[in-house]
Amino acid sequence: MSAQIIDGKAIAAKVTDKVAEGVKERKDKGLRAPGLAVILVGGDPASQIYVQSKRRTCEKVGFISKAFDLPETTTQDELLSLIDQLNEDQTIDGILVQFPLPKALDETSVIEQIKPSKDVDGFHPYNVGRLAQRIPLLRSCTPRGMITMLESIDVDLHGKHAVVVGASNIVGRPMTLELLLAGCTTTTCHRFTTDLEHHVRQADVLVVARGQANFIPGDWIKEGAIVLDVGINRLESGKITGDVEFEVAKERAAWISPVPGGVGPMTVATLIENTLLACNEYHS
Ligand code: GUN
Repeated sequence: MSAQIIDGKAIAAKVTDKVAEGVKERKDKGLRAPGLAVILVGGDPASQIYVQSKRRTCEKVGFISKAFDLPETTTQDELLSLIDQLNEDQTIDGILVQFPLPKALDETSVIEQIKPSKDVDGFHPYNVGRLAQRIPLLRSCTPRGMITMLESIDVDLHGKHAVVVGASNIVGRPMTLELLLAGCTTTTCHRFTTDLEHHVRQADVLVVARGQANFIPGDWIKEGAIVLDVGINRLESGKITGDVEFEVAKERAAWISPVPGGVGPMTVATLIENTLLACNEYHS
């Protein structure tokens, strides 16, 4: 039996429409539009594309979008003082610094400089701590977006064995916390994991965030599993593909997200959802 496709593009469009409605409701009440500052340091081509997409979506839903394109030579002090200024700016609800930063800059202190109430990426230890303690507010965008995808297929996650492959701060670790919050029994696999195949074969819910094309062979997928593929890899042919061997995996899984058009669009949709939440909850 072939898996049903989890259409991230369609789910993200619904989230975006809902945010646009929320912005309209604010404007109808005479309240200001939410504001998002997006900071890009240096000229990394992939980051430029992601940032463009974030700024474009902001404008589409009626946010105020403030763009800061800083040179590669920006110092830590210059970046931190821009964040300080935006922390105090009453028209700004969210501050996003696109990663990775140039090597000379320290990402951890940049994350910690952002006021937790404006941390729409959900990367600040305060917000990750809230998620860990079951009182989430601003949640990391890609993991939270995947939970929205799981909610859309209406499966009961309680007691399911969820296996996350990858333990990064941006995806793997917060996704493990999200799945734990959702009632799953969780396993996190990382570079020191021995016998990855054994763990993957146990997964009722499998999340793969490794960044290597076809890293998970399709025949490792448990029959009836739900598979979320975070990878976006460009093959030499130019084709974009995920971390899971899709064509084989889809014959075993019950549900699977494609690449492209799966998890990717959910990151931006959740970012604008977070910005509206920050505006309504914290700054109004
Ligand atoms: N780089 C890759 N993913 C992300 C993300 O979700 N947020 C930021 N700020 N940078 C990223």
